[in-house]
Amino acid sequence: MNKCRRGPLYLGDIEDYKGSCHVMCPWHSYMFDLATGKNEIGLRQEVYQVKVEMGNVYVKYHSELSLKPYDEETGRVTFSNDEGKPDTTNYR
Ligand code: FES
Repeated sequence: MNKCRRGPLYLGDIEDYKGSCHVMCPWHSYMFDLATGKNEIGLRQEVYQVKVEMGNVYVKYHSELSLKPYDEETGRVTFSNDEGKPDTTNYR
């Protein structure tokens, strides 16, 4: 999968683009379809099933279970990335 991992996509504006909802990456202004995660030049972001119930947001996320605890101090959880190397991205 070819995707740009660096941009703060969570800060992007959500807009109607060519008839469907997209998020615009604030760094390169690429538009990603919120339903598919794809964009026009072949980049792709992960997409997750989301539902809102009684003011709570639930995200369906499939991952392998980890026996390593969430580190409250650093806010880090260790997962493996696509290459099998530790991915220490912050998940808060
Ligand atoms: S940083 Fe490149 S598309 Fe977001």
